[in-house]
Amino acid sequence: MVRLRKTANYILLPLFFIIVTVVALTVNAHYINNVEHFGAKADGKTDSSSAFLKAWAASCSSMVPSTVYVPRKKYTIGETVFEGPCNNSAITFQIDGVLIAPDYKQMNFSAQNWLLFDQVDGVSVIGGFLDGRGTSLYACKASNQQGCPEGPTTLAFYTSNNILVQNVISMNAKLFHIVVHSCKNVLLQGIKIRAPDESLNTDGIHIQNSFNVKVLNAGIKTGDDCISIGPGTQNLWIQRVACGPGHGISIGSLAHDLEEEGVQNVTVKTVVFTETQNGLRIKSWGRPSKGFVKGVVFKHITMNNVYNPIFIDQNYCPIKEGCPDQHSGIQISQVTFVDIQGTSATQVAMKFDCSETSPCKDIKLQNIKLTYQQEKQQQLQEPAESFCKNVLGVALGPVLPPSCL
Ligand SMILES: *[C@@H]1O[C@H](CO)[C@@H](O)[C@H](O)[C@H]1NC(C)=O
Ligand SMILES: *[C@@H]1O[C@H](CO)[C@@H](O)[C@H](O)[C@H]1NC(C)=O
Ligand SMILES: *[C@@H]1O[C@H](CO)[C@@H](O)[C@H](O)[C@H]1NC(C)=O
Repeated sequence: MVRLRKTANYILLPLFFIIVTVVALTVNAHYINNVEHFGAKADGKTDSSSAFLKAWAASCSSMVPSTVYVPRKKYTIGETVFEGPCNNSAITFQIDGVLIAPDYKQMNFSAQNWLLFDQVDGVSVIGGFLDGRGTSLYACKASNQQGCPEGPTTLAFYTSNNILVQNVISMNAKLFHIVVHSCKNVLLQGIKIRAPDESLNTDGIHIQNSFNVKVLNAGIKTGDDCISIGPGTQNLWIQRVACGPGHGISIGSLAHDLEEEGVQNVTVKTVVFTETQNGLRIKSWGRPSKGFVKGVVFKHITMNNVYNPIFIDQNYCPIKEGCPDQHSGIQISQVTFVDIQGTSATQVAMKFDCSETSPCKDIKLQNIKLTYQQEKQQQLQEPAESFCKNVLGVALGPVLPPSCL
């Protein structure tokens, strides 16, 4: 009996370890889907879209957490949709390399997104340098040529939940850099965005119709809004962001449509604006809408030579079509500005130009100090001013320029 059991142990123990090792290796091989194993080539000419899609399909069909891995090389990839739902909700897209978009002339002119994640749950995009190659399209648009496409957004998430985007660098998007649309629980962290200040519609991050989105530690230099916030955004938190050049952080444009979801519970904290066209802006078309803005806090904000540091504009009507002589239906209420310091590049540092039919209400200003800094050479310091139209609210503590509320 004793001898028999001993023999069994001699055989079973090593066998056990062999099985564990084999299983671990199999699972591991399944886990990491390296795009090169699916045919991606960093040779400067191959379009690796289908390889990326195959790697995605492998990760998406996996019943256990899985990674799509992009090595530290440069891959060209065309417009691609990474589509869910998947069999697991822990997919990591680890990008050590560079993804390069084709020139706009080589892309579908109707493509709205370059890299789109649609209907996914639990996806993390970590790292990577996304080169949107927008330069030739900027030139096309700037020359007012007919037939320039609008261009695609670089990285978009639609109808997705539990998303992390971390340490991604996006350069020269053809249109917006990052879009979060109809999503829940999204964290964008350590994002860097770069595009020339004259590039058209290259918004840094656009958030719309989404719930619980956080943007932390971002550096955004671009040609349009740093962060734009569309209808239906709720529980948005933005903290430690450097904006500029660009057009600042904007809630809106709203009132584009009559039937529109409201924007609710937005916090923007510890943001530095440098040489931006606007700082903190709420913007709506001057026309009817059922939308609203309610519960916004802007605090600990630094303005460096910003053209319109604080700006509520409810009479947005850029091409004078479909809005002149109408009033915005957007009700703006409970908006607080606390500890806003720095310099304005124009004399009107605070401008509240609200709707005649839905005046702004419960606007609160607390500890504001904005000075008017003219051209540096002139060394002139004239007092900054504020402008109020159809607005109700209170000013607490020192407020400079003097409040007109
Ligand atoms: C999920 O797994 C099932 C069973 O293996 C498979 O048939 C299906 O295609 C997978 N789904 C996705 C989205 O890959
Ligand atoms: C171009 O994109 C549009 C919109 O996404 C799509 O409907 C169309 O099928 C695409 N055309 C080609 C040739 O891929
Ligand atoms: C507002 O949003 C924050 C997250 O940005 C959340 O923690 C907080 O609970 C929300 N407040 C309300 C009243 O929903």
